[in-house]
Amino acid sequence: MKAIVLTEPGGVDNLQIQEVDQPSPKKGEVLVKVHAVSVNPVDAKTREGKALFEQLKEHPPVIIGWDISGVVEAIGEDVKYFKEGDEVFGMVNFPGDGRAYAEYVVAPEDHMAHKPEHIPHHEAAAATLAALTAWQVLVHEAGIKAGQKVLIHAAAGGVGHFAVQIAKYFKATVIGTASSENHEFLRNMGADEQIDYHKYNPAEVVMDADIVLDSLGEENTRNSLKALKEGGTIISILGGAKESVQEEAKKRNIEARNYLVHSSGEDQSQIADLMRDGHLRAHVSHVFELKDMGKAHTQVETHKTNGKVVVNVI
Ligand SMILES: NC(=O)c1ccc[n+]([C@@H]2O[C@H](COP(=O)([O-])OP(=O)(O)OC[C@H]3O[C@@H](n4cnc5c(N)ncnc54)[C@H](OP(=O)(O)O)[C@@H]3O)[C@@H](O)[C@H]2O)c1
Repeated sequence: MKAIVLTEPGGVDNLQIQEVDQPSPKKGEVLVKVHAVSVNPVDAKTREGKALFEQLKEHPPVIIGWDISGVVEAIGEDVKYFKEGDEVFGMVNFPGDGRAYAEYVVAPEDHMAHKPEHIPHHEAAAATLAALTAWQVLVHEAGIKAGQKVLIHAAAGGVGHFAVQIAKYFKATVIGTASSENHEFLRNMGADEQIDYHKYNPAEVVMDADIVLDSLGEENTRNSLKALKEGGTIISILGGAKESVQEEAKKRNIEARNYLVHSSGEDQSQIADLMRDGHLRAHVSHVFELKDMGKAHTQVETHKTNGKVVVNVI
């Protein structure tokens, strides 16, 4: 089968299309014929030799990628929820070896969900790692409730645009930060207020938030403490809740934590339900062909993507 192999850590030219052995499903696993994969910032960091590269290099050839949508081609022993021909999507083995940039991917069945029937594969592929992050942070980590005020940083990005929609689904008041040209996009996603972070310091404008989602790192996490009410929660997905930030937070009875997304078919199924019912949609702003994976990485590395970048495999 064809796959995108990372020949060595470095630039996008090291992502090369090659023939590799097709995997076969073991007990509890499904073999998926991949239609589309999505690309995340962690893919680009791994390509550079950071993030999950050390783990991936244990199983050469190194194949990056975690987010797939496709059709079940075969099932391993004891697979309960899927059969050949089912359309599925999910984030495979994260944090670990997902090997998603390929024509066929083997996935534990409990990392996958049935794809909503009316959603095309490229949109389903987009609603995996980024959507799971938004869901797990807001629902499991922050325990979002109706009527709460939620500040989403980088709200026009992959994680951010899902987080805005999920927070709205839970009937929260949602404030998103983005460049002004993306404010209409945020409104369309359901954000009640938009802050242009180039003009204003969001933490000086927002008061009494119950929840903040940080995706920018330590300085932003520390700064965002000011936007929270006592008893509020800030979750950083970029390691921003350093010990000193947590100590500062504790003084105001604020909970500051870091979070790393993990594969979950159960959470993926919740996302599928929201998509089926029209409460959640993936905004895919860029679609590339498999041979142009390098271009997809370059787009992600602009840090200016609206929604998601997807690569069609077939
Ligand atoms: N810990 C985890 O589990 C986890 C999971 C997913 C992602 N992450 C990390 O979270 C970060 C975001 O991921 P992503 O997929 O959402 O990235 P992304 O899609 O590449 O984010 C792009 C967006 O970031 C916005 N942006 C850039 N600088 C900003 C700033 N200073 N303030 C506000 N918005 C800004 C841009 O908005 P404008 O164009 O409007 O300027 C753009 O829409 C990445 O570092 C990623 O590695 C961590």
